[in-house]
Amino acid sequence: MNKILITGATGNIGIELIRFLSKIETSNQIVAGVRNIEKAKKTFTNVPELAYVHFDFEDSNTFESALNQIDTIFLLRPPHISDVDTYFKPLIESIEKKNIKKVVFLSVQGAEKSKVIPHNKIERLIQNSTLNYIFLRPSYFMQNLTTTLIADIRTKRTIILPAGRAKFNWIDIENIAEIAALLLCKFDEYKNRAIEITGSENENFEKVADIINQTINSPIEYKNVNPFKFFKQKKQDGMQKGMIMVMILLHFLPRFQKEPQIFNFYEQITGKNPTVLKDFIEREKHQFEIQ
Ligand SMILES: NC(=O)c1ccc[n+]([C@@H]2O[C@H](COP(=O)([O-])OP(=O)(O)OC[C@H]3O[C@@H](n4cnc5c(N)ncnc54)[C@H](OP(=O)(O)O)[C@@H]3O)[C@@H](O)[C@H]2O)c1
Repeated sequence: MNKILITGATGNIGIELIRFLSKIETSNQIVAGVRNIEKAKKTFTNVPELAYVHFDFEDSNTFESALNQIDTIFLLRPPHISDVDTYFKPLIESIEKKNIKKVVFLSVQGAEKSKVIPHNKIERLIQNSTLNYIFLRPSYFMQNLTTTLIADIRTKRTIILPAGRAKFNWIDIENIAEIAALLLCKFDEYKNRAIEITGSENENFEKVADIINQTINSPIEYKNVNPFKFFKQKKQDGMQKGMIMVMILLHFLPRFQKEPQIFNFYEQITGKNPTVLKDFIEREKHQFEIQ
């Protein structure tokens, strides 16, 4: 039996990943590594076979017992953790000490090109360790529209970002989680590769607002703001400084970069097409209406 530890289990990707893993018939045992076991159990009432361990990226005392008997790890970087040396270096060392060899790391498209982002440092840390790895490098989550951007959409009917007319590649988290589940089960076939997971559309926010407006009753608009104004506004809204900086990096830098490259790994491995924006927005349209 292969024991797979899922970090970030209660987040966007983690919940979908556990849903897909629970549908795949294998003898794998899935273990959710979470900060609060009781809270997590409420999220996964429909997955009775799921096991839980206490795991906190910010408390290295939890590593030893969380890693016990684990064969494979799904590793992600919680968005507020950017200090790789403090939090990820000791974790990777603990994983090595436990003689665990398989890590699937949720990175980001283009991580290899940008030394300033933490995913790049984490990838290098893993490559320089004794671990075998798969780096999943997804593009821009469609679900950003229904998570980080939803408050402005609902209350101001506006998407406010310093993204100009930059085009993003849009991927559905369900597609990423489906791939992650398959790769965790077929690790050896894909080991020591970096895999880009993209959707089929590169679109800017003006176009995305248009697509949303074709589906809902109360229209929204896209407003481009400069990074300083964005920082000030988000600080006023109560967003943490670190998170604002991540939002700026994620949305401002693409203005100076080439359009994202589109890959067809999802089609190749599943035989299906990835979700398109129109279908995602139709699926989630209740979220965009005035509440
Ligand atoms: N947004 C995008 O477009 C995009 C694109 C490509 C890659 N990514 C990457 O995807 C990752 C985020 O994935 P996500 O959206 O699934 O994350 P998320 O929804 O923000 O969830 C974060 C998860 O991490 C857990 N967590 C937070 N702090 C923790 C700690 N100290 N110890 C243990 N667990 C902790 C949270 O658990 P609790 O329930 O305890 O809070 C939660 O399960 C980031 O690395 C991001 O850079 C994002």
